Amino acid sequence: MACCNCSSSSLSEAKEIVAAIGSEPEYAIPLLQEIQRRHSYLPEEMVEAVAEESGIPASKLFGVATFYSQFRFTPQGEHLIRVCKGTACHVAGADTISLIIEQELGIAEGDTTEDLKFSLESVACLGCCSLAPVIMIGDKIYGKLTTTKIKNIIKEYKDGEA
Ligand code: FES
Repeated sequence: MACCNCSSSSLSEAKEIVAAIGSEPEYAIPLLQEIQRRHSYLPEEMVEAVAEESGIPASKLFGVATFYSQFRFTPQGEHLIRVCKGTACHVAGADTISLIIEQELGIAEGDTTEDLKFSLESVACLGCCSLAPVIMIGDKIYGKLTTTKIKNIIKEYKDGEA
């Protein structure tokens, strides 16, 4: 059955995804994860195409996607900044670090800058608690952060020097 809102390329990609993962309702999360792995976010059209292809209602897929913070509805920026909010980092001032990044970039947690350069999100633990407070930009860890240090790091990325 053709979906009036989905392009044929979305439908053929959805076909591939559903064939690889499955079409039962319990596969909603893996299906969404696969869409996000391919696109870095959940394009509405792809979610609808996967709903069409799998028979899982789009409302259910969107409901699951909204519930879990791992899913995003906007494209990911060139630099993904993850601020650790685990216990050690929280105690060491993660909230202040987060606030400074938000101010420097003009976005809130979960958002992407308009120029698509930065996305900001929080994570539970980055696994290097002795360096608290810690952030990760791309695959690079920055630890023992201070107000000055984080401002300089963000500036380097903004200036394209990092
Ligand atoms: S709590 Fe932040 S790295 Fe573990």
